[in-house]
Amino acid sequence: MKIRISLFLAALVLFSACREKSEMDRYIDDLMGRMTLEQKIGQLNLHSASGFISALRVTEEDENVKLLRAGKLGGIYGSTDVNYLRDIQAVALESGAGIPLIMGCDIIHGHETVFPVPLALSTSWNMDLIEKTARVAAKEASACGVNWVYSPMVDICRDPRWGRIVEGGGEDPFLGGEIAKAMVYGYQGRDPGSFADDEVMVCVKHYALYGAAEAGRDYNQVFLSRQEALNGYMRPYQQAAYAGAGSYMSSFNEFEGIPASMNSYLMDELLRKAWGFDGFIVSDATAIAEESAHGIGDLQEVSARSLRAGLDMDMNSDGYIGTLEKSLQEGRIGKTEIDEACRRILEAKWKLGLFEDPYRYLNPARVEKEVYTPENRAFAREVARECQVLLKNDGVLPLRKGTKVAVVGPLANDAASMAGTWTMSNHAGESVTLYEGIAAVTPATYAEGSWLMADLAQEENARYALYKTFAPNYPTPPLHTVPQQQLIAEAVAKARQADVIIACVGEIANMNGEGASRSDISLPESQEELLKALRATGKPLVMVLVTGRPLALCWADENMNAILNVWSPGSEGGHAVADILFGDANPSGKLTTTFPRSVGQVPLYYNHKNTGRPHPDDAPYKKFVSCYLDELNGPLYPFGYGLSYSDFTYSAPVLSATEMTPGGSVTVTVEVTNSGSCDGYETVQLYIHDVFSSSTRPVKELKGFQKLFLKAGESREVSFTVTADDLSYFNHELQWVCEPGDFEIMTGTNSRDTQCVRLTVK
Ligand code: BGC
Repeated sequence: MKIRISLFLAALVLFSACREKSEMDRYIDDLMGRMTLEQKIGQLNLHSASGFISALRVTEEDENVKLLRAGKLGGIYGSTDVNYLRDIQAVALESGAGIPLIMGCDIIHGHETVFPVPLALSTSWNMDLIEKTARVAAKEASACGVNWVYSPMVDICRDPRWGRIVEGGGEDPFLGGEIAKAMVYGYQGRDPGSFADDEVMVCVKHYALYGAAEAGRDYNQVFLSRQEALNGYMRPYQQAAYAGAGSYMSSFNEFEGIPASMNSYLMDELLRKAWGFDGFIVSDATAIAEESAHGIGDLQEVSARSLRAGLDMDMNSDGYIGTLEKSLQEGRIGKTEIDEACRRILEAKWKLGLFEDPYRYLNPARVEKEVYTPENRAFAREVARECQVLLKNDGVLPLRKGTKVAVVGPLANDAASMAGTWTMSNHAGESVTLYEGIAAVTPATYAEGSWLMADLAQEENARYALYKTFAPNYPTPPLHTVPQQQLIAEAVAKARQADVIIACVGEIANMNGEGASRSDISLPESQEELLKALRATGKPLVMVLVTGRPLALCWADENMNAILNVWSPGSEGGHAVADILFGDANPSGKLTTTFPRSVGQVPLYYNHKNTGRPHPDDAPYKKFVSCYLDELNGPLYPFGYGLSYSDFTYSAPVLSATEMTPGGSVTVTVEVTNSGSCDGYETVQLYIHDVFSSSTRPVKELKGFQKLFLKAGESREVSFTVTADDLSYFNHELQWVCEPGDFEIMTGTNSRDTQCVRLTVK
């Protein structure tokens, strides 16, 4: 009976899905039948809102209004001003074929309520939490007129020199895939075919492999084999497609000598055919025009090739509206290619419900009620507590409330760095600073302590290049009016009066993110000078690290009593950091990127290959093996690492069977005990290693994780199911295979400290 009911229900769902699809098809057939060629090409054109971000009023002089009147604009992005967007939607509806605009924006880690930057979010290893951040962001964004978000950014990155490492989920493809799914569900809900008023369409970026930019230099070329790309980088993009992502953004880089925005292997063969993605693909900003700089051809040629390769929408290059008609006349592209791209964009608008009600996301009354609410901010604090990684603690933490602290350093009172990169929030300037958060719970004094950087030209670039790019005459205030030595002296004087020093150092927000690659990933010299002076006071010294990337911290690790990495923790950052420092919450974040000992080791990542002459991570130099004369092989802090105020002990893992058939599965069980004196979260990690395989395999690969809450003294058994899929990989022929033989199955608290059992696949 039960089976019959479920069959009936399944048939009903299938039937209604088909009916919905055909209704959409009929609608779009009819609409396209009435559209001119120019209007169809117009749908493929996306522009940034005039004034990007800052609210402008819609006038006939507005470039986008002129384009709309000519039927040459399908979407707009970059504004979260619901009144502006409402007005421009009205223009769209009364122009050309009267098709509503899709309205995009870089909503990356929250919107008006800012959550920790994505790399920080990933260190929570808490998928429900991450999904909920996307849910809240979708509500706030949709209340502000946005129906399409340029998130999740799922580029795997092994190189902390790349400033955009901050925007993604770290170095691991399995974890990245889980995060990608969680975010798609959070923004879009579970049904990719329709959207509620407070759900928005995602745009998964940057497709593909942007995070493998050579030498960590932004926009640089990518050299990867297909096999390495598939095994090491592609899973998050793939999982996002499986979760129903509505759109993708092509990346700036090339792959196999072809820019990604005209790469038919990436867009057509893999994304559409292999993974079944049926949404639309938009280029990154000006990426089509940049294909000329890549050396492929003039704007007409690259536009035609991009369209033929499967790129539907042109962001800011004007290549499609400028050249496709001519290319059609010359036979360089076919009418079908234009129709297909146009249809995909119209389908997205249909799914968003824009044909039914073009104003459904444009209700100014929602802003007041749903955006930057006390509940959302309280949630931001809760999230930020879970996204801090305790890197070192000799016992000084947690601090006792009432302790007199000196909060010093150039990051101590900087609201913008709490909000972090890609923040479109009107409230970013109100983000709670570290000093404010700490001063709310204990007697605290503040001193700036040091210059941000000793190299003033570099600092000027970090602080102002963004503004100067968009406004060449941007007035740049003098960088430092007080000499560095005086700042240090003031900080030391305050430190001497305090019981504990909290030094807040690292990167301001503009030192990471797009166009912010660094060749040196140590703490800036000026800040290290401050730390040395503070160290000399002999007072307990806690370093609070604000950063968007892994930094090389060997000196700090040797000289600080504790290091708490708080990243850019968002709107409520200062409060959430104080929660951890003073023991109201127990730190539980774990790294999702390896922290190298020095920049020379980069790229350094836990899931590397063994080489033919391997050398242990912590062993000293030896001739004729794979190592450095002047540095250990191992990282300072490995992937998966993060301390707690509790201690967790692990039993050896036990398998339900030591042999497995490719169609079967085994269970691996480990007992985890909170052997400390306070309650806390622990993320139990599962890794595998294929001992012998037809192609070389990484020494370790993450295949599962579980975050659990354990009371002090509590023990719990944690089980993972291992199937052939977990043991499979793309072989040399690019087939997804599980090869018979031995596998090491490892469990542990991080990627370095694991215990192992052997499993044989027959
Ligand atoms: C970035 C994208 C972003 C786009 C639109 C580009 O420069 O690479 O990540 O979504 O601009 O703002």
